[in-house]
Amino acid sequence: MSSGPHDTAPPRRALITGAGGGIGAAIARVLHAGGAAVIVTDVDLDAARAVADAIEGAEAVHLDVRSERSVRSAIGALTSRHGPLDVLVNNAAVCGNIEFESTPEPVWSLDLDVVLGGAIRMCQAVLPGMREAGRGAVVNVASVNGHRYFGNDAYGAAKAGLINLTRGLAVQYGPYGVRVNSVSPGTIATPVWDERLAADPHALDRAVPWYPMGRVGTVDDVAEAVAFLAGDRASWINGIDLPVDGGLLAGSRAMAVDIGAAVVDGG
Ligand SMILES: NC(=O)c1ccc[n+]([C@@H]2O[C@H](COP(=O)([O-])OP(=O)(O)OC[C@H]3O[C@@H](n4cnc5c(N)ncnc54)[C@H](O)[C@@H]3O)[C@@H](O)[C@H]2O)c1
Repeated sequence: MSSGPHDTAPPRRALITGAGGGIGAAIARVLHAGGAAVIVTDVDLDAARAVADAIEGAEAVHLDVRSERSVRSAIGALTSRHGPLDVLVNNAAVCGNIEFESTPEPVWSLDLDVVLGGAIRMCQAVLPGMREAGRGAVVNVASVNGHRYFGNDAYGAAKAGLINLTRGLAVQYGPYGVRVNSVSPGTIATPVWDERLAADPHALDRAVPWYPMGRVGTVDDVAEAVAFLAGDRASWINGIDLPVDGGLLAGSRAMAVDIGAAVVDGG
């Protein structure tokens, strides 16, 4: 049986930031399952190694998205060895601020620096190679907090910035065959919730009624959406943000019922 062009094509090379964490690790696994060679990066190299060790052929790399030097040296070393990346997933984030007025500058500026500054540094380092190659896909992991207020002011502002950065880069790099999109997850059970769950073991359970689909999300819900946007099936999708939120951003039934605009059962 003759092999088609896809059987002989080299695997796409995908780099994920913050891939030592819950969603990033799932993205690495799902992209690998789709045939990509994955580079698992994180500021926490042990976490990146633990994820990469479980994925055949995966490479773990220390990469701190807050540091221009770290970004440039990691991307420089990788591209000189393998050529330009095919896929970049900007997934790294921290979420530190809770109460607006009392959040100290080092806490809120860290949210902005990792989420938005990190994506800017990564895109500045990676997009020129994609432009030169005439192909590539960037997927930014944003959040429902980038669309509406659900707490965490600086984090939400950074995610809103990331969604708009996505649009700007999509317009600028689309002419070179490079697509830039984002996903906006709703609540997903990952280690990011550990601290809050330690204080309140039912915090995630209480999120459930707000979700039209009656559950919070899984890491694979997000990873599948990222893989779709990163892959050729999305070849004419550029500059969008795809909510992966079970319908949270579509509206609030609780409010509709509360104000008498809907009845409790049906209607
Ligand atoms: N979990 C949720 O409910 C949820 C909801 C919406 C969006 N998201 C987004 O999904 C993405 C992944 O979140 P998660 O829940 O898997 O979080 P997580 O905390 O499990 O993973 C985040 C990873 O980012 C890494 N990281 C932090 N600072 C970094 C830096 N300076 N450089 C490189 N890596 C760094 C951490 O070490 C960690 O491994 C984030 O962008 C987050 O904002 C998560």
